[in-house]
Amino acid sequence: MSTFLVIGASSGIGQALAQQLVAEGHRVVGTWNSHAQSVGGIEWHPLNILDEQADFSFLPETLDGIAYCPGAIQLKPFGRTKPEDFRADYELQVIGAVRAIQAALPALKKSGNASVVLFSSVAVQSGFGFHSIVSASKGAIEGMARALAAELAPAVRVNVVAPSLTDTPLASQILSNDERRAANAQKHPLRRVGEAADIASAAKYLLGKESAWVTGQVLHVDGGMGALR
Ligand SMILES: NC(=O)c1ccc[n+]([C@@H]2O[C@H](COP(=O)([O-])OP(=O)(O)OC[C@H]3O[C@@H](n4cnc5c(N)ncnc54)[C@H](OP(=O)(O)O)[C@@H]3O)[C@@H](O)[C@H]2O)c1
Repeated sequence: MSTFLVIGASSGIGQALAQQLVAEGHRVVGTWNSHAQSVGGIEWHPLNILDEQADFSFLPETLDGIAYCPGAIQLKPFGRTKPEDFRADYELQVIGAVRAIQAALPALKKSGNASVVLFSSVAVQSGFGFHSIVSASKGAIEGMARALAAELAPAVRVNVVAPSLTDTPLASQILSNDERRAANAQKHPLRRVGEAADIASAAKYLLGKESAWVTGQVLHVDGGMGALR
């Protein structure tokens, strides 16, 4: 049994990941921000990662892995973006991850085979219109992950999962009706959008011992969207 921290276990991919880890008998510490949780099997704690004084005293002494799941999809024509849009997105997606990893690092270093999993997006490998805000943050995450993988080896592995459009509350506006869902499915070589479980399985692999010799990688879980034409 390993001990994992899932930041953002109350929705979407983080929720699916926490459930998969619990089903395999692991100890899971999960956080929620705006949707209070009490589902059994997970040790729940409230956490707003934007809070500079966030209290991490709930962290276990030893952690075998952490997944940082908060994210955003702000799509806008570049001409309508404001510097504040980029700053706010970066604060949640990148600075939030920095805060979480720094808080968890002492516990991760005690593990012997610890793993950090971050989330990027298909919109880093491929360019899509209106994606400048999210692609800037996610590109930063990929770069930071490689740097951290080098700096923290061999004690801590650091990898990234890069999903394409996945059916979670975060994507609910994009997938708001059957027509939109079908159109988005059609854009993917595998002819469907992702399910939270598709992405969670990849994150679970990168968190666990099965990936013990994998670090500094970006795993594209995107229905073929990033690589195929
Ligand atoms: N869904 C997609 O299409 C898609 C595509 C590419 C990449 N991704 C990436 O995959 C990751 C997971 O996305 P998702 O779709 O599962 O998102 P989601 O359904 O919105 O879930 C995000 C989780 O993060 C938590 N969270 C949000 N803001 C927070 C804050 N300020 N402090 C602490 N926790 C916070 C949420 O908690 P509460 O719900 O309690 O507020 C929730 O548990 C993100 O990095 C996202 O960018 C998703």
